[in-house]
Amino acid sequence: MTAPRAVKGMNDVLPEDMGRWQRVEQIYARTMSLYGYREVRTPYVESTALFSRAIGEATDVVEKEMYSFLHHEEPLTLRPEGTAGVARAYIEHGVHAKEPVTRWWYGGAMFRAERPQRGRYRQFYQLGAELFGDPGPACDAEMIDMLVQFLRELRIPDLQVLVNTLGGPETRVRYRAALVEFLTPKTASLSAESQRRLTTNPLRILDSKSEQDREAVRGAPTLHDFLGEDDRVHFEAVKKQLDALGTPYSVEDRLVRGLDYYTRTLFEIVGAREKLGAGSTLVGGGRYDFMIAGLGGPQVPAIGYAAGLERLLIASELEIPGNVVDALVAPLAGAITEGLVLARDLRKSGIRCEVDTRGTSLKSQLRRANTLGARVVLILGEDELAQGVVQVKDLDARTQETMARDQAIRIVVDRLMAASRSVDSRPPRETT
Ligand code: HAM
Repeated sequence: MTAPRAVKGMNDVLPEDMGRWQRVEQIYARTMSLYGYREVRTPYVESTALFSRAIGEATDVVEKEMYSFLHHEEPLTLRPEGTAGVARAYIEHGVHAKEPVTRWWYGGAMFRAERPQRGRYRQFYQLGAELFGDPGPACDAEMIDMLVQFLRELRIPDLQVLVNTLGGPETRVRYRAALVEFLTPKTASLSAESQRRLTTNPLRILDSKSEQDREAVRGAPTLHDFLGEDDRVHFEAVKKQLDALGTPYSVEDRLVRGLDYYTRTLFEIVGAREKLGAGSTLVGGGRYDFMIAGLGGPQVPAIGYAAGLERLLIASELEIPGNVVDALVAPLAGAITEGLVLARDLRKSGIRCEVDTRGTSLKSQLRRANTLGARVVLILGEDELAQGVVQVKDLDARTQETMARDQAIRIVVDRLMAASRSVDSRPPRETT
């Protein structure tokens, strides 16, 4: 019988990789609290109708990528993204009546049946945030700037911030009509997928990767030609605010993104293509001023984004200490209990330590210390036990000293704490 394997596109994260994951999650949680965002957790499973209403029937996500199933006749779906569920929770708990502006962040697994490749998985993790109740433009710019600060702290080089505006719903209707008029005579030269989209979701043809589609859309009217005055003023103000904050960006007037709920401000942050390949978009987000009302809630404007955690990890140059413990307590056969007590005392001072309770030879315990990345080994033999002393072997300094038990604890704590303070205390590198 063959051994079971993980489902295609769904990955294990093994303990040796968890350190980097946790570090990114910690930096994100800290960034969020610095900006006044509070964490929200919504279910992994929601009703299928929530996603088709919020994201749009004619999107790739809803048409082809959702893991949907019937449970006792009830259509349910594993969440393909976080915004719809968070918006549902915002409406369901009547949050808009309790506070005028709400800042929520979230993290967790999302599920999309996409073709797996580097940076694209079927179960992947997002770190996201949603801001309800502020129509912008200053909060749009602050959100983009917050992301740039966060990504710099992760030491992600070569960041590019792309911004665009989609205008309001009437702009979309007028632009859609103009685009269909422009593309209809060229229908035969479009890819099969785009021919279909010409009737379902023509704006998506603009970010098709196919060469023939790119050729066909050359010279197409841009959405900017159809913007209403209010939309134009809003976008100008977002750009002005970004300039004032010194946040680097470029305007990408073909940026449309794959979800239907967006209006006005739209943005993506892209990392180095050499490293990330097709999955170079680290963060995608934008304003969705009509989703809450569209789901049956009050008319509340909103803006948000999500970052792909695996992609952040591929792009990040953060170095974190890979050691599992700081110290190994190595008791020889007759001193195991005393070893457990010594380790417990060290942990009270915040020292991460393991006790090698196998009672094996000193040589094999030193090998274990190496594997764990311990800096210090505290050796306890029967002689040491009888004299109330410990041998402290410093693997970095290559020294070995015999000390009274309490003095050993003090010295080990001082040395290891000083070492941990110096880890990664360099300032983040500037990127643009
Ligand atoms: P999205 O552009 O679909 O937007 O996804 C956001 C980010 O999630 C992407 O930029 C990428 O980093 C990551 N991502 C998406 N699909 C995959 C995948 N199959 N494998 C690995 N990473 C992936 C949203 O999800 C919106 N909810 C963002 C948002 C929040 N807009 C407003 N509020």
